[in-house]
Amino acid sequence: MKNLIGIEDLSTEEIEELIKVANDIMKHPELYSEKCNHKKLATLFFEPSTRTRLSFEAAMMELGGNVIGFSSASSSSTAKGESVSDTIRTVACYADIIAMRHPKEGAPLVASVKTTVPIINAGDGGHNHPTQTLTDLLTISCEKQRLDNLTIGLCGDLKFGRTVHSLITAMSRYKNIKFVLISPDELKIPEYIKEEVLEKKKIEYIETNDIEEHMEKLDILYMTRVQKERFFNEEDYVRLKDYYILNKEKLVNAKKDLCIMHPLPRVNEISIEVDDDPRACYFRQVLYGKYIRMALILKLLNIK
Ligand code: NCD
Repeated sequence: MKNLIGIEDLSTEEIEELIKVANDIMKHPELYSEKCNHKKLATLFFEPSTRTRLSFEAAMMELGGNVIGFSSASSSSTAKGESVSDTIRTVACYADIIAMRHPKEGAPLVASVKTTVPIINAGDGGHNHPTQTLTDLLTISCEKQRLDNLTIGLCGDLKFGRTVHSLITAMSRYKNIKFVLISPDELKIPEYIKEEVLEKKKIEYIETNDIEEHMEKLDILYMTRVQKERFFNEEDYVRLKDYYILNKEKLVNAKKDLCIMHPLPRVNEISIEVDDDPRACYFRQVLYGKYIRMALILKLLNIK
């Protein structure tokens, strides 16, 4: 594997290996602190980000490497009309590995054709977000000690939420996975995910708009934000933005060992009263994101 464009670029064995390395980094960070000496990571973010960009940068720094890049299209030559291809060919002259986020679906794939430097998709429009999925897989494996035999509730904006699309694709390769897809009608999971992943792999799933209906069955509840920036009109966003607000009351029937996840940023979809519940994993999930990205950088740079 040279690039990470979609989670399907990784075999199950490769994912297992990344999780193993991430666990080892967590236990012995000192053994990894010079692995990327003299290497440079470029983070090219044409869309806003806090966790993804900063965790990539922190990951590279903790490996002893350096970081260059930009955090908005407006501060790069994109603002002058430069194409993604030209930007990538330029940055490839300076960096050993590139993580890019772009509002256009498929932009990282286009970029990867233009260079031999490894490209990591850090989110492309409403399409995919494979490194968030690696983060989610490490979180699930550390918090639940397994990646199979799980009933996973995905709640919120399942239409535009790229983390959801990549997570369903990834989890569909493990045994006995069931999904409860919780969304308003307007924000249901895209047909292509149903046809190409869920139905093709004969995965059991239920669609509902009621967050409490199947709560007692869930091992994981993955909350998501309504993706304001992907809406065509403000009115629809305002109507749907607070459709779900997870609070203590809605968790009354939930399992004692439920794992509540969220890729973050949170807007209103999880009430802050839930943050102190030991089942709230979303801030631990942030930290797992740094370790799995460290493992991924090592893999793509072929560093043992
Ligand atoms: C997610 C994203 O960018 O898709 N955030 C992240 O990378 N942790 C989720 C979101 O923005 O809602």
